[in-house]
Parts: sequence; C-alpha cells; structure tokens
Amino acid sequence: MQVIIVGDKEEMGRRAAALIAEQMRRKPHFVLGLATGSTPLPLYQELVRLNKAGELDFSTTITFNLDEYVGLPPTHDQSYRRFMNVNLFDHININKAATHVPDGMAADPEAFCEAYEAMIDDVGGIDCQVLGIGSNGHIAFNEPGSSLASRTRVVGLTESTIKDNSRFFARMEDVPTRAISMGIGTILEAERIVMLAYGANKAEAVAKALEGPVTVSVPASALQMHDQVAWIVVADAATKLRLEWGR
Ligand code: GLP
Repeated sequence: MQVIIVGDKEEMGRRAAALIAEQMRRKPHFVLGLATGSTPLPLYQELVRLNKAGELDFSTTITFNLDEYVGLPPTHDQSYRRFMNVNLFDHININKAATHVPDGMAADPEAFCEAYEAMIDDVGGIDCQVLGIGSNGHIAFNEPGSSLASRTRVVGLTESTIKDNSRFFARMEDVPTRAISMGIGTILEAERIVMLAYGANKAEAVAKALEGPVTVSVPASALQMHDQVAWIVVADAATKLRLEWGR
C-alpha cells in the first residue's frame, strides 16, 4: 500500500486530485467512484478548480457514489445526491445523467441494489474509487461486522454512526437509521482506490485499518487485500501509525 502523509487537508485534496486527474486524462469514459462526508470536500474543491481552469474534462466521465440514506429523497438537504450536486456536479462539465447515487426512495431497495451492481458492471467496473473512513473504521456504510465480501445492499447504521451524523440533522429522531451501501466486495473490485483521512478522531481507525489484522471489526482493513490503494492521510490522523510509511 502507498501511504502519503501530508501537512493539511488542502494538500490532501491536491494530492488526491492530482492522482485522479492523471488517471482520468489517460482514459476517456473514466468511471469514478465517489464518496460523501466532510473528508472528500478538499478533493472536490480541487477537481472543480482544475475543471474551471480547463485542465480536467468531465464531459465523458461516469460516476457512482458509494451510498445513500434510505428514506431521504434526492432533494432533501442531507441526501447524498444533493451533497454531490452542491459540492461537485453543479460546478463541473459533467453529464448529470452519467452520475449515479443510490436511490434512497427505491420502491424495491433489494432490486435496486442488484441493478446498481449491474450498472457498474455494464460500464466495465470502477476505475478509481474515492473513500473516506468512519471513526469506527467503516467504509461507505459498511459498519463493523459487514462481510468483507459484501455487495451493494440495504444496511442498518450503528449507534456511533447515527451519533456522528446527528450533527447534520435538527433532531436525533430525524437521522436515518438505514442506508443503501456498496459492499466491501464491490469496493475491492475497483481498479484503484484512493482513501482519504484527516482529523485526530480518525487516528485510531487509520492505524487499525493500515496496521492491524484484516477483520470485520474494522471494515477499512479489507483494503490491505487490494494492491492499488493510495492512502492520503493528514498528519493529525496519522499519529497512531507505527510502521515507517512513506519514508
Ligand atoms: C459517512 C459516509 C462515509 C464517510 C463517513 C465519514 O458515514 N457514509 O462514506 O467516510 O461518513 O465522514 P466524514 O468524512 O464526515 O468524517
């Protein structure tokens, strides 16, 4: 695994954008896997800047997001579809019809999950998947205990994730308790993975994922089984690492 330790989240965003841009320029109809949360925002700001500067074209890019809350319509201000529009898609020359976010309002969520996997397969799989890590080690909404071979499915969120997410909702009762999430098996099929992390609250999860055993207790530890992962970690999230990464 490649582990790049950087000074601040702006540098994290620039390094990640440079990695992704380099891959995108080599392959038209690039299939980019995207994540939500505060972690990828510096990356999205840099991708917008590159696009506006005429240095990166999204006109033929296809995207798939990792997850969406069950029960939130795309227009809800906390839905991940809206997050993606507001923070990335509305500011770049992407064809919105080529951007995919799981449908949290699907009448038949199980059938939707199967169809989502089929759509990814139909375009030849994900070329590069962007990830963040939850403070409990989750990736997308694959909470501890998720099978490392799991596929896109409806999942229940843990108390700790509901609590982490409650800051975005007016009342605790409003925080969704279920989501549609790509599985760990789905994520591991991406050609490349770029994992981002910043903040002291992620240090424990980062250390366990990178240096601990591969275990369902830390879903992000499954990335140890993938040979094309770049971790871009801000120093404040790297304080618990013991190995000599990136030196
Ligand atoms: C949510 C998302 C994850 C994300 C995590 C961390 O749970 N489903 O994909 O990695 O939040 O969020 P943040 O980046 O805000 O710390």
